[in-house]
Amino acid sequence: MKNKVSTFAKSLGLCAVLLCGVSADAEEQVLRVGTEPAFAPFEYIDESNSELVGFDIDLIKAVAAAEGYSVELSQMPFDGLIPAVLTGQLEAAIAGFTITDERKKRVAFSAPYYDAGLGVLVKAELKDSIKNVADLSGHSICVQIGTSGALYAQNDVKDAKVTQFNTSTETYMELAKGGCDAVINDKPVHEYYLAKTKPQNMHMLPEFITSEQYGIVIGKNDEKTQQIIASGLKKIQQNGTYNSIYEKWFGAKK
Ligand code: ARG
Repeated sequence: MKNKVSTFAKSLGLCAVLLCGVSADAEEQVLRVGTEPAFAPFEYIDESNSELVGFDIDLIKAVAAAEGYSVELSQMPFDGLIPAVLTGQLEAAIAGFTITDERKKRVAFSAPYYDAGLGVLVKAELKDSIKNVADLSGHSICVQIGTSGALYAQNDVKDAKVTQFNTSTETYMELAKGGCDAVINDKPVHEYYLAKTKPQNMHMLPEFITSEQYGIVIGKNDEKTQQIIASGLKKIQQNGTYNSIYEKWFGAKK
């Protein structure tokens, strides 16, 4: 009996030591991730409770959790996110970032996690004169600074008068008050905005004008974070978590 008690006591002691080790590690297992939360439904502030929510937010939390990490999210302007990853202030950024060759020169991307592309929202009164993207030439276009939509408006629309704003919310406000003829932004974001605010004075062109894929931004030399995100993403794609997050935000996959 005496022996049994002491074995039990020993294993309790051992447990305590192990548990201690686990909880100390758990505290260190944090990924510092940045986002720009004016991009619903991917990242935005839920006005009812001021919480940061969205497809990307659920996704990064699930990716991290699959690897035993929690996420510390910080919010910053979109064009500040890549610089913050470059200086090591952030380990990753998730903000509906399109994977582009230009960005790949500076940062690494996770595997693609969402298929998107640009769309065009125009003033309703121009509905009959702007039927496709070529009809945009010579028009005034509002875009968010640093985005693929901004580059498209500047480089691919002939004679466009482009005005850049810090957030896409401001581009929509400008279009609503007639300050520009069109907004170029990611089409799923246009769709969410239209469904949510039902503006009477706007019309969306039906087609995607580009096809783009989103990836999580990570430092080029940060192999540790690259590996955590690659493995976590693969796990949630295999175990059904990715699909349930997708369905929560977009409905069943077509
Ligand atoms: N997909 C576009 C890009 O990468 C727009 C992303 C904007 N994201 C945001 N959270 N504002 O340039």
